Amino acid sequence: MKKLKVAVISCGMIANKGHLPAYRHYADRCELAAVCDLNPQAAQDTAERFGVRKWYTDAEKMLAKERPDLVSVCVPNGLHKEVTMLALSYGAHVICEKPIALSYKDAREMFDAAAKAGRSLTACQVIRYYPEFSFAKEMHEQGMLGDVYYTEFSLVRRRGVPKWGAFHKKAASGGGVLCDLGVHMIDAALWIMGNQKVRSVTGMTSSYLSRTEDGIVTSLVESGAPAGVFTRQEYRKEDFEVEEFACGSMRLENGSCMNFKTAWAVNLPGEYSMRMAGTKAGILLPEMKLLGTMGRYQTDFEPKVFPGERPFAGEVFPGHFLLAENVMDHIQNGTELMIRPEQTLHVTAVIEAVYRSAEEGREVLVSEIEG
Ligand SMILES: NC(=O)c1ccc[n+]([C@@H]2O[C@H](COP(=O)([O-])OP(=O)(O)OC[C@H]3O[C@@H](n4cnc5c(N)ncnc54)[C@H](O)[C@@H]3O)[C@@H](O)[C@H]2O)c1
Repeated sequence: MKKLKVAVISCGMIANKGHLPAYRHYADRCELAAVCDLNPQAAQDTAERFGVRKWYTDAEKMLAKERPDLVSVCVPNGLHKEVTMLALSYGAHVICEKPIALSYKDAREMFDAAAKAGRSLTACQVIRYYPEFSFAKEMHEQGMLGDVYYTEFSLVRRRGVPKWGAFHKKAASGGGVLCDLGVHMIDAALWIMGNQKVRSVTGMTSSYLSRTEDGIVTSLVESGAPAGVFTRQEYRKEDFEVEEFACGSMRLENGSCMNFKTAWAVNLPGEYSMRMAGTKAGILLPEMKLLGTMGRYQTDFEPKVFPGERPFAGEVFPGHFLLAENVMDHIQNGTELMIRPEQTLHVTAVIEAVYRSAEEGREVLVSEIEG
């Protein structure tokens, strides 16, 4: 099998801790041809760290010269569309970081361009690959939960605004915690339930703390960079322009309901949980616990999970390895993509509906966005 020529655009945190380690791991099937970052030091350091021959500061120059088969787009959210379109125009398949775009319209144009070019475009919704979410998907597919009629998730940091990059700036990131964390949980929940669709959304977003607080002690681990950062930018609270908290409720097309909250900063305990109530059993994540009955008794079930079922457990971002493998399988062997365009498009529309609902103070139909 011919090795795929791979390039990575941006040499920040997720490129160094997710994408590049994954491609290096699959050295038998891909060759890391080049990396690129506006910051030359970051590009050069990253190239040296991963033994990549070439580094660039201009994505277009790199694409024109290297003509990679597969490109990882790891720039800030506001550039995902532009850089993805560029990579597609040079004939590359693309893995683009999440959220794939800032609007449904932009995402639609990106997927249309990919289809026209005959190339794949995959959003980095990597938590689907985490053992707890894969387990929930398996349980649902095997009918263990019955019909899920209620879901709730919380992905909450008490204080954990990402302060190393441009996450807090509207133009660079499009939105705040909903784009950063909420997108993962919405994607995973709908996927677990068999790619359910959301019918309508009532949402609220806020930012009371991050614009005003100074000097609150927190850590990089809390703010999403457990392995450190690579291209730190200046952070000033005055520049904080996005939401630090989002919550809401969604009606799904199957009649079920999903409540959520997500925060970079809130005066509540940190939380990472998803719960689903089904007609046969409920499921608690990340615990991987099923709540059901056995005979006359209310019974809890906990699976035995062996190390082999936690692939890449030692990695900070294990999902990136499995996602890269799936995309390479797709390109090289025609295997079906795990994260499909129509699913990502729908999640993008749902996020946009939450923002519209928050702004207009009303329940928003997702069809208003999808058309
Ligand atoms: N899937 C996940 O689990 C996950 C985790 C963290 C971040 N992300 C996503 O990854 C993206 C980047 O996040 P990060 O934490 O690596 O940010 P970061 O700030 O560490 O890195 C961003 C890098 O992009 C570079 N850059 C900006 N414009 C560029 C351009 N035009 N060409 C080349 N390089 C450019 C910057 O110089 C910087 O080095 C974001 O979209 C974020 O949402 C995803």
